[in-house]
Order: sequence, then structure tokens, then C-alpha cells
Amino acid sequence: MRGSVSGIWLLAGVISLTLIAAGQSAEYRLSRNVLPSLYKLTINIQGDAANPGTTFDGEVAITLQATQPNVLQITLHKDSLDISSCMLYNKAGLLQQNIATTSLKYDQETQQLTVPLAQALAVNEIYTLNFVFTGKVRTDMAGLFSANYLDKETGKTKWVLLTQMQRLNARLVFPCFDEPAFKAKFELHIGRPNGFNAISNTKMIKSTNEGNNRFMDQFDVTPIMSTYLLAFVISEYQARGNVSDYAVVSRPEYFSKTEFSYKVGERALAAYDGEFQQPYKQLGNQVLLFASSPRFPHNGMENWGLIIYSDEVLVQDPGYTDGWKNKEFTIRIITHETSHMWFGDSVTFSWWSYFWLNEAFARYYEYFMAHQLYPEYQLDQQFVVRQLQMILQTDSGNSTQPMTSPETSIQTPSEIGHKFSSIAYAKGASIVRMWRNIMGADNFNKAIRSYLKQHHLGNTVPSDLFAHLKANWPAAPAVDLDDFLSDFTEQPGYPVVTVNQTLENRRFVLTQKRFLINRRDGSNTTLRYTIPITFATNLKPTFQNLTPGIYFRKINSQINLTSPDPLDWIILNIKQSNYYRVLYDTPILRKIQEALSKDDHSSIPVENRAQLVDDLFNFAHAQMLDYTDVFQFVEYMVKDVEYIPWYAAYSGMQHVAKRLTPQQLTNFEKYLRDITAAVYAKLGVNPNSKDTVLDVYNRNMQVSWLCKFQNADCNNQVKDSFEGNSEKPSPDYRETFYCAAARTTGYARVLDLYKKETNSNERDLLWRAASCTRDYRTHYQNEILSSSTTVSQKTNGLAQLYQQNPDLITPIYALITEDINKLNTALGSWSKTAEVLSELSDYFTTREQEKQFSEFVNKNSALFGSSAAQLKTAQTKVNTNLQWAEKRLGTLVNFLASRNGAAGSTVATLLIIMSTLLGYMLKYVGF
Ligand SMILES: *[C@@H]1O[C@H](CO)[C@@H](O)[C@H](O)[C@H]1NC(C)=O
Ligand SMILES: *[C@@H]1O[C@H](CO)[C@@H](O)[C@H](O)[C@H]1NC(C)=O
Ligand SMILES: [Zn+2]
Repeated sequence: MRGSVSGIWLLAGVISLTLIAAGQSAEYRLSRNVLPSLYKLTINIQGDAANPGTTFDGEVAITLQATQPNVLQITLHKDSLDISSCMLYNKAGLLQQNIATTSLKYDQETQQLTVPLAQALAVNEIYTLNFVFTGKVRTDMAGLFSANYLDKETGKTKWVLLTQMQRLNARLVFPCFDEPAFKAKFELHIGRPNGFNAISNTKMIKSTNEGNNRFMDQFDVTPIMSTYLLAFVISEYQARGNVSDYAVVSRPEYFSKTEFSYKVGERALAAYDGEFQQPYKQLGNQVLLFASSPRFPHNGMENWGLIIYSDEVLVQDPGYTDGWKNKEFTIRIITHETSHMWFGDSVTFSWWSYFWLNEAFARYYEYFMAHQLYPEYQLDQQFVVRQLQMILQTDSGNSTQPMTSPETSIQTPSEIGHKFSSIAYAKGASIVRMWRNIMGADNFNKAIRSYLKQHHLGNTVPSDLFAHLKANWPAAPAVDLDDFLSDFTEQPGYPVVTVNQTLENRRFVLTQKRFLINRRDGSNTTLRYTIPITFATNLKPTFQNLTPGIYFRKINSQINLTSPDPLDWIILNIKQSNYYRVLYDTPILRKIQEALSKDDHSSIPVENRAQLVDDLFNFAHAQMLDYTDVFQFVEYMVKDVEYIPWYAAYSGMQHVAKRLTPQQLTNFEKYLRDITAAVYAKLGVNPNSKDTVLDVYNRNMQVSWLCKFQNADCNNQVKDSFEGNSEKPSPDYRETFYCAAARTTGYARVLDLYKKETNSNERDLLWRAASCTRDYRTHYQNEILSSSTTVSQKTNGLAQLYQQNPDLITPIYALITEDINKLNTALGSWSKTAEVLSELSDYFTTREQEKQFSEFVNKNSALFGSSAAQLKTAQTKVNTNLQWAEKRLGTLVNFLASRNGAAGSTVATLLIIMSTLLGYMLKYVGF
């Protein structure tokens, strides 16, 4: 009764909110009473060879028709464009009305331009609305903007003009119906100076010499597409490949460095042609160009036929940026952007509230198509830690959002911006992976192919996609698919399933609740989800079948899994394929740890090992467990040598390690040394010809952690290796290795490498590495304070000093504050100095440090003027951090200490017994 009353009240609340939103929405959304079908657009840039110009001339003829009678005005978008003429022509091409520009109405807020008409448009008749205008060549990477680079050959600065229309920037370049569902064709004409070339979404079909050293290039009409996908680039670039078919286009110096990206693009395109069974060229565009830019707001933008990337994606500089990590990045971004030709360009979300319909798939294929093509990167496994576990964290706080928002709630530019969140990308991709694994590859691919085919050139909402998933969903087990599909897309967050054992280990009772990092942060704690349940047990340790045997329905308060025979262990959510966490009660967790401690980890796969570790850290973070339980569990890793679980372990430990005092770090180091025994023995500090890609990544991570926390063997090995060898480490390992070397005897040599280096990225890398030195006094006084380093080098170098040497924070702080005027002079302002001190104070871990900081602030606040407020804020933060550590890490600190003092043994089970005893003792001493 009470429940239903409050239910009605809630419903009433929701309705009134929707009405308010709907009232607002009328202003931002265009009416569909007029629809454009073709834009003939001419952009005449005013620049010459030396200068890109600051404005451009434009003219656009928009073919449109009215969909209903009595249309007496046409409303569309524009932003900072100056319109000098507006004409309406009828279908015979005769001028119907010359609309005085003074009579055009413009609403700054909605960026809508309203053209008043003398007489109503005839329904379904073709008209042409023509504008002549000028616009700005911008520098802020929106609309039409300029970038430049230094040409190696001539030493001259060269400019590039290029575009970024997403999200709402087409209106900065021409008046248009700038919403994704107003799809139309585009015929582009570009006027440019001689010596430059223009590329756009489609093939160039004509280039006319207009005299006066100028040319007009005409491009083929595009397929029907959204305004945000229009693009062009005007430059002195050179093409690898054929610009009328497939090519990578970059500055001439980069020509020899795009071979790899060219190959990747070629392979990705062919693979998608097969996967989607609707070849790219059949989508309606014969051209696919990859252009690269020295300045770009994203890694890549999927303009149909002209994907623009930032240089780092397409260019592999031998010896500098051709390591595994760089190549993986290139592969992922290219497979991501290329998949958008189908998901996004051919089939487009109908409104920004469904933005994930593009990005969930692009991020999914970024990992899983890349995995098909380049299995050596094991991106299927990497996905679990880098995407799924990363977003589970975001999605457990009160600033998260559902993948799908009600259309009415996403209206203003800032609301639209809000949907460009990692939820659309990483949660979206995790949910797509879940569907795909449940359905199986064949069913999933069938669904995707029919969806793409049915909605080719169209706009969709989630239910359009769901119809195809449902039509291809496996019949058993029964599930309410509408619930299942909407629970994870329309609700924020996700569940934690708790597993308790009863009946002598024959029954496992599952309950669910929403997982929140802080249950009192204002989030809705009552949400429930339809949860696919997959599991493996010690009696059936198979981790292959990802189609659930049962779903946990929302109306059930619990479900029971019962076994005829007692089980040692059970693990839910095979390969962490589904989107939730699992909390085991203590006896099961102990048994799982035992199973993991077997030589083959009892065939429990890396994804599940990473899941167990990541879940536990998050349960501790959410105060559902003590950190000691987690650190005890993680002792199983003494036998784990794989990157994926280690990635999860270090992600979890980061948060804790940052809050340990310099004194406590010694015991932490001992713990690290013990649990890394096997992985460190396997990988060491030197590259090995048998390394897999993930071995390379793993060594990087292990050496960073071990050497940073003063593991003696790590430091000695790096020192010997560095001293005995002058060869450059591979790009993947270079920063880690040089940083570790600079901590030992290698500082002078690394600093020297930095000083001699000319490549600017490499210089930054070497500067960061040199700044790992433990000789902080020399580095601070001679290098950081020196006038030969830039302000950003000074701040980066200083941050490296204490972050890479956490045990030295107290003396480093003392050195800086000994004479704060020196730092202020070097940084050039008290506000920057306050910022640097605030950042440093976030690494304070003791009350003594806090006290010194307070005294410093009290004594010097006058010096800092208005920036003293920043220091006060930092002081509050220090106190919060210390309180957190005192409250949450006490038991762990004692565990680490006793573990170190009492036994040198690394046998995990022994340690558990010991720490249990210790727990008793601590209770007695009242800790
Ligand atoms: C979200 O949580 C943070 C910290 O947990 C809290 O400070 C903030 O007030 C919360 N916001 C809302 C809207 O409840
Ligand atoms: C189930 O296990 C969880 C996790 O250990 C525990 O918090 C909870 O009290 C247990 N519930 C029951 C009914 O035993
Ligand atoms: Zn994308």
C-alpha cells in the first residue's frame, strides 16, 4: 500500500518534469515542416600561399520542400556567419522572393535563423533557399579552422585549413538544418589558391582555373547524410594511395611514415566489408580518405569518406613512435573510425540522446575488430580491464548517466555535450559485448547486418536496434528481453550480485542490489536489473559458454543455484562478459583463492582473475570490505604472471599506495616484492625476444611499480643494465627504463640525452624520465629552477620528482618551501606557485606534513594574495585525505607490518591464518 502510494506520487513528479522539459524543447529543436534534400555549397577561402586568411566567403543553395501547408517561415541554424543575401527560388528556378537580410530573425540562444516568407510554401514542391555569407576561419578547432606545421624541406611554416562539424559546428560554416536527422546530400565547391589541394567527403570531379592564381574544385554529390559529417581539408599534403579511391593524406615529410596506418586502414575496410556484408562502396561513397592534422580536437573524426585524425594516429616515426603501444593506438583508432562508416554515417542516431548508437559500436569494434585483425595485442582481454572495469567505476557514482536519455531532456548544446561521455563509449561497448556474447557471434552478426541494411541512410532510435537483436536472440532461457535491454540502457548504474553458500556448499543464494561507491551520495539505490547468470565451478571448470543458463529477474528477490554435490568454489559471470560485479561471502572467497593459487589457477581465465581483483578493490572502496581482505586475497598473485590481472591489481592498489606514509611504504614494498615473485622472475627488467605484446606492457608496469617503491633488485638490475649498455630501449619501454635508471646512477646520462635530443616529444619523455632522479636537490636547483626550462617543464618535472619518489616527499617539500620566492620567480606567478603546492599537498600522508603545510600557509598567505584561497582549499583536502587513510587503512597498515615482521614466507595460505590471528590481537589492543 505504502509502496503504491509513493509510486503514484513519483509518477506525478515525473510527468510534471517532462512537461517543463517539453516546453523548453520547442525552442531548440527544428520543426520538421520543412525538409532539406540538397545543399550546393561553395566555400571560397580568402587566404594565399603565405596565410590562411581569417574569413571565408560562402554561398549555399538549399533544396527543400514543405511537408505541410501554411508554412510561412523557414527556420534553420547558423552561428557566427554574416549573411548578405537571402533569396527564395521556385522549382522552375525563378526568384520567388528576395528576403531583406534585415527581416531575418536570429535567436542567439538557440542559434536559429528564421526566414519570413511573403506567401506560404506549396506542399511537396521543390524550392531553393539561397544565402550569400561570410564566415570566420577559426583557430579553436571548431567549424572551419586553421592549423600549421613547419615544413622540414623548406623550413617554412605551412598552413592547413580543415573542418570539425561535430557536434554543432556545421552552422559555423554555412546556414543549415543542423540536426542529425535532417539528412541531405551535399555538393561542395571549394575555391582555393594555386599550389594547394582540396579533399572532401567524395571524389573531386572538376577543377577549374579561375585565373588570378585561383582554382575552384567541385566534389561529387555525397550520399544522404547528416550535417555533422561534412568535411574538407585544404593543404599542401601528399597522398599515399589514390585520392579517388583509398588514400592516406599527410604533410610530405610524413609520407614515408604512413605505411603502417595505410595498411591498417586497408585491412579494416576489407574486414568490415565482410563482417557487415554490405561493402563500403555500396553504402554510396566510392572514396575513403584518411587525413592527418597537427591540431585536432579528437583522435579522429568519422566524416563520411574523409576521416580526419590527429598526426599521432597516422604517423609512425621509426625509433620514436613505432612501438607496440603506438601501433596498438593506430590500429584501435583506425578500426574505430572506420566502423563509423556503417555505425554513424550510413545509419545515424536520430537525436543526441541516443548518441551511444554510434559510439558503443565504434568502441566495441575498436577492440574486437582490431582483435580479429591483430590478435597479438589480445585486445579482447585488454577490453575487460581498460574499458569495462574502468567504466564500472565511473558508473557507480552519482555523476553517471544512463546510455539512453529521454529525448526531451537533451536539448541545449550543453545537454548535448553531456551525452558525449565515456558512458556512451565504454559502457556502450561493454553492453554490446554482453549482447554479442549472450547471442553468440552468428546471431549477433545476423542482427547487426539486418539492422544496418534496414536503416541504410536512415536515422534510428534504440528500439530499432533492439528489434533486430530480439529477432535473433536465442530462444532459451526465457527472459523478458524488453526488460533486459532497457535495464542496462535506460537505467544508470549496474548491480552487484551477492553469493552466499548454504546447505553444506550445495546451495548458493544470489541476491542483487545496485552497486554504488557511496550509497548516501544521492543516487537511486533501489534500481534493479535483469541479470544474465553464467558460472563455472570446481566440478565443471569450463569458462567457454557465455550464454546464460538463467536470468535473475527483477521481480525475484533471490535466486538459488543448487548442486547435487557439494562444491568447493563457484565463479559467476564468466569472463566478466556481463555488466555487473559479484560479491562472494567469505568462505567461498577463501576457496576461490585456493583455486587461484593452484599452478594453472584451476583454469580460471585472466578475465575472471582480473574481475575478482577489481571487484574486491571496489568493494573495499565502497566500504563493503576492509582493504586487508583484498590485500590478503591478492596474495594469490604470487603465482600470477599475466598482464590482465596485474593491470587490475595495480589499478586498485594505486588509490591505496598514494595514501601510505613514507614509513609504511617499506612494508608495502615488501608486500609487492613477495606477490610479484613469479611475474618478476619471468619478466625481469630486460626485454626478451620471446616477449608477447602483453609481456612488454606487463614488464613496463612491473618495473614502474617495483623501482618506484624502491625494490632493491629492480633498481640494481636497471642500474646494471643501463650502465652496461648504451643502446636505446624500445619506444614502449623507454620512459619507464630511463626513469628507473635516473633514480640510480643514470641521472646525468639521461639528462644529457634530454639536452641533446631534438625531437620534441622525445625531449618531453626524457625530461620526465630525468625528473625521476632521487637527487632532487640538484635537479630542482640546476634544472627545474633554471631559465632554460619552460613553465610546463618546471611543473611536470617537479610533479615527477615527488610522484616517482613517494618516500622523498617530505624533503622535497622542505626544499621547495625553504625559499618559496625562488619557485615563484621561476614559475612567474603566485597563482601557478599555489597550484604546484596544492598538487604536491595531495600526496601528503602524515599529520606532521599537514602541520608544516599549515604553518607555511599561515606565514606566507600574504605573499600569495588571492591565490591563498587555493592553498586553504588544499589544506582541507589534505585533512580529508588523512582522515580517510586513518579510518580505512588502519587494519591494512598493521597487516602489512606484521606480515613483514613476523615471517619471510610468501605462502599465501599461511599468511591468511596469521592475519586472522592478528585481527584478534588487534581487537584486544583496541585498535
Ligand atoms: C554526489 O556525491 C558527492 C560525493 O559523494 C557529493 O558531494 C554530492 O553532493 C553528490 N551530488 C548529488 C547531486 O547528490
Ligand atoms: C552473504 O555474504 C555477504 C558477503 O560476505 C555478507 O555480507 C552477508 O551478510 C551474507 N548474507 C547472509 C544471509 O549470510
Ligand atoms: Zn567514435
